[in-house]
Amino acid sequence: MLNDAKNIQKIISMKRLKIGQYTINFPIIQGGMGIGVSWDRLAGAVSFAGGLGIISAIGTGYYQNMHFVEKVVDSRPYDVQNLYSFEALKAIVKNARKICGQNPLGVNIMCAINDYGRVVADACKSGIDIIISGAGLPTNLPEFTDNDPRIALVPIVSSAKALKIICKRWMQRYNRIPDAVVLEGPLSGGHQGFKYEQCAMEEYQLENLIRPVKDEIREWGDFPLIAAGGIWDKNDIDKVMALGADGVQMGTRFIGTYECDASEVFKQVLIRAEKEDIQLLKSPVGYPARGVRTNLINLADKKEGAAIKCISNCVSPCQRGKGAKEAGYCIANCLGDALAGKEDSGLFFTGANGYRLKEIISVKELMNKLINGE
Ligand SMILES: Cc1cc2nc3c(=O)[nH]c(=O)nc-3n(C[C@H](O)[C@H](O)[C@H](O)COP(=O)(O)O)c2cc1C
Repeated sequence: MLNDAKNIQKIISMKRLKIGQYTINFPIIQGGMGIGVSWDRLAGAVSFAGGLGIISAIGTGYYQNMHFVEKVVDSRPYDVQNLYSFEALKAIVKNARKICGQNPLGVNIMCAINDYGRVVADACKSGIDIIISGAGLPTNLPEFTDNDPRIALVPIVSSAKALKIICKRWMQRYNRIPDAVVLEGPLSGGHQGFKYEQCAMEEYQLENLIRPVKDEIREWGDFPLIAAGGIWDKNDIDKVMALGADGVQMGTRFIGTYECDASEVFKQVLIRAEKEDIQLLKSPVGYPARGVRTNLINLADKKEGAAIKCISNCVSPCQRGKGAKEAGYCIANCLGDALAGKEDSGLFFTGANGYRLKEIISVKELMNKLINGE
């Protein structure tokens, strides 16, 4: 089936993706990437090009948005209300809208953040269409959107079991099923829904998870399955679509665009990275996270990194710096430093394919390659 070029062309280029009441022209979602890797410029450009752009709601009070923040300590947004600044999120959404017009636009909100419910409500007030939420099970997500059917809700899972728990809870409490589900395999960038050892095991690879998750979807109704993690080109897209996915979510490849909001340093760190530099790292969030092994990580492993003082109170599993001390670094500070272009102290997340990034191109060019092939 995969060799039938004409069929494949049809699969990818003709199929629109329907998520709730929204239709996305091409079944390509740009994954939310924090801090500040996918904000207004990237998400706006992807939605404008006919994919679905996703703004990261993580650390919106950082860097160029610091003027929205009421209290700054040691150049960091102080505590949750400033780290996840509503005013900054509104401004990011407004700018992205200027770029993409009325095309659907989404936001990514990690369940693990402190003030999760408030940030979800802020996203709704900012005029977002779709909320994608993972890094934990978003079992109470509909509550924070007032179960408004106009806001499409998309959980991220790494197993059929996780999807079952979410569907069961949402049906019982809110009489609602997801509008789509992102299934993220262990080659993805950032936090993983697996234990370290599981990430390398055959049974947990994306292609082996699609069928069971598709079967679980059928137990509850009919909503699209979006495959994520390690998808790089049109060939990869066609492969997962042939296995039953209705669309893809891609993160790392979008970092290689002019519009990507990450610092130039971030993009160069990826361009310079070799395959073996990309590893699973310890994270204060409690899950393994994939990123580039830099000097920061070498020092963190030896517990020789910068002194850890919790200023932003970013994620609940960290317990105000306890997890950071165990991991050897503060995740909010280090992701913030990557955004500010500080190579020595920045944390650079990437998917396993990040070493394949060789050039920076426009979102339009990238979408064209993904849709039509090289
Ligand atoms: C720099 C970076 C930051 C990310 N941040 C988040 C995040 O804040 N929340 C989230 O759910 N996923 C996050 N991800 C995962 C992406 O949204 C995406 O699902 C994943 O990277 C897909 O795999 P790929 O990078 O191989 O395409 C991040 C990924 C990267 C590379």
